[in-house]
Amino acid sequence: MPLAGRHVVLGVSGGIASYKSCVLARRLTEARAAVDVVLTAAASEFVRPVVFEALTGRPVLTSLWQPERALAHIALAKTPDLVILAPATANLLARAAMGLADDLLAALLLARTGPVLCAPAMNDAMWAHPATQANVKTLGKRGWQFIGPEAGPLAEGPSERPGRMSEPEAILAAAERLLAGQGGGRWAGRKVVVTAGPTREHMDPVRVITNPSSGRMGYALAEAALARGADVVLITGPTELPLPAGAAAVRVETTAEMQRAVQAVLKDAQALFMAAAPADFRPASTADRKRARSDGHLTLELEATPDIIATLQRPKTCLMVGFALETGDGLARAREKLQTKRLDFVVLNDALEPGAGFEVTTNKVTIVSKAGEPVILPLLPKRDVADRILDLVESALT
Ligand SMILES: Cc1cc2nc3c(=O)[nH]c(=O)nc-3n(C[C@H](O)[C@H](O)[C@H](O)COP(=O)(O)O)c2cc1C
Repeated sequence: MPLAGRHVVLGVSGGIASYKSCVLARRLTEARAAVDVVLTAAASEFVRPVVFEALTGRPVLTSLWQPERALAHIALAKTPDLVILAPATANLLARAAMGLADDLLAALLLARTGPVLCAPAMNDAMWAHPATQANVKTLGKRGWQFIGPEAGPLAEGPSERPGRMSEPEAILAAAERLLAGQGGGRWAGRKVVVTAGPTREHMDPVRVITNPSSGRMGYALAEAALARGADVVLITGPTELPLPAGAAAVRVETTAEMQRAVQAVLKDAQALFMAAAPADFRPASTADRKRARSDGHLTLELEATPDIIATLQRPKTCLMVGFALETGDGLARAREKLQTKRLDFVVLNDALEPGAGFEVTTNKVTIVSKAGEPVILPLLPKRDVADRILDLVESALT
């Protein structure tokens, strides 16, 4: 995990979205970063420093004039791996663009030469104002990275225009990506394709054959690869899940569409993770009107859908990771799949095992590869499973 053991300064300025920064501080700490929170005076009006102290387990800084930390603005500019500003007010952007140093956070930013990740949040008219836009441009030219603002409801009411701060999860993912890129991890800059979710095959305009795959395992893999700095293309069947921030997403419905979508992006990929559960059968014909119950008895003829793995033209350097959901003696089936489908790894899980498979947030998998013994993992959250899979596949990257 790129955040583990890293030193992060979270600068919070005085916007309504500062309540979301509490969640961000928590998530950063859970990711095992050492988090020093710096509040502007206005931010302290919104959230008391003690809240951040409790969440991070570290003292919070609010002023240049704290005798025990007299040169904090210089130390906190130099040592952290990353400075995150969330929320960044219009006022903070203006002060930073002007090079003012009139409080601890502004002084720290003026002394900062390393990366800054900035999540602005403000009224939509304040964001659209030419002064704010000019400040953002100036700071971007100086190397600041921006995330958001997003369109969506603001504290003062509904809005279709950007102003709202990106969600803490998206900021966390952007921070992980930034740090992974810096660390030169083995996934940084590599193209990774992930399939996720079920597919749907229509028998008529309103009825489908599908399965209960939630897409969580594939989305977790996409998030984990993004966190390691990979360029991720997520090809997803219909799911309820929010798209992982930073992934290029392609939405598909049928297995044939998924096959075409994977082929279209595979050319320069270094790894393909086929975590989707595409339908193996589809109706041999699709009615163009809804079949009525009054039609009485219905016999549905099914035909096999394209076998995505078998029909792909694969780049030589792309590692192929298949998933096998079995009921019963899966190990033999997984080994067979590895051979016949010419895969580098097969991730096996047992649909009958409690906590594994569809519709749950955990998984218990065994990873089978051409080299070595199967790796049996304990029951873990899907995101942890994703990290363990990436650790293993990483060793085979060329
Ligand atoms: C209730 C309230 C909500 C505010 N929300 C925002 C906001 O979301 N974004 C913003 O840029 N300013 C907002 N402001 C204005 C800032 O607090 C003000 O510009 C302040 O000077 C910012 O100081 P700072 O940048 O040093 O934190 C808000 C003010 C109030 C009273």
